[in-house]
Amino acid sequence: MGAVPSFHSADGTLISMAPYTIRVFGDPVLKQRASEIENIDGTLVRLSEDMLATMYDEPGIGLAAPQVGVQKRLFVYDIGEGPRVLVNPEIVETDGEWLFDEGCLSIPGLSFEIVRPKTIHLVAHDLDGNEVSIEADELEARLFQHEFDHLDGVLMLEHLDDDQRKHALRVLRDRAMAGPPAALDHREKTGGLHLP
Ligand code: NI
Repeated sequence: MGAVPSFHSADGTLISMAPYTIRVFGDPVLKQRASEIENIDGTLVRLSEDMLATMYDEPGIGLAAPQVGVQKRLFVYDIGEGPRVLVNPEIVETDGEWLFDEGCLSIPGLSFEIVRPKTIHLVAHDLDGNEVSIEADELEARLFQHEFDHLDGVLMLEHLDDDQRKHALRVLRDRAMAGPPAALDHREKTGGLHLP
């Protein structure tokens, strides 16, 4: 991508309020396939900046557009090397196996040891419209696979083994019965919990 997004207001003070509320498990938007991006324009740049601000506010290391209710094939991330944005990503090759304790901002408070390919080759576009080709390993490869799944309406719950899945669904069901805590208030507006 080009310039690092600025999170400062006109008078120079840091803006810390997240522009978006992150959609959580049960929101139907998380189960839909996002659309290919046709034009890389100012709207997309603004979306990316707002998504990065939302991600840093959590904090998280990756965020896909459907997680803020936008059905576009784009995700943002920062694994300690600065903010990055990838548009219309495709995973063209995977290799190996790697176990990692994976979490998701859309499934707060739950993480699971999940095996996925260790290395991947990803191609995408950046916000300047340039094609990017990345050979990713371990954490970066895991992040790409997790965010790419979001663009296809797939949550990490679909990668759990039977015991993990039972535990996850029990926790999510108990939460739904207990009523949404303040941080999950927006779940009420999205029609409650839809168990797979
Ligand atoms: Ni996620």
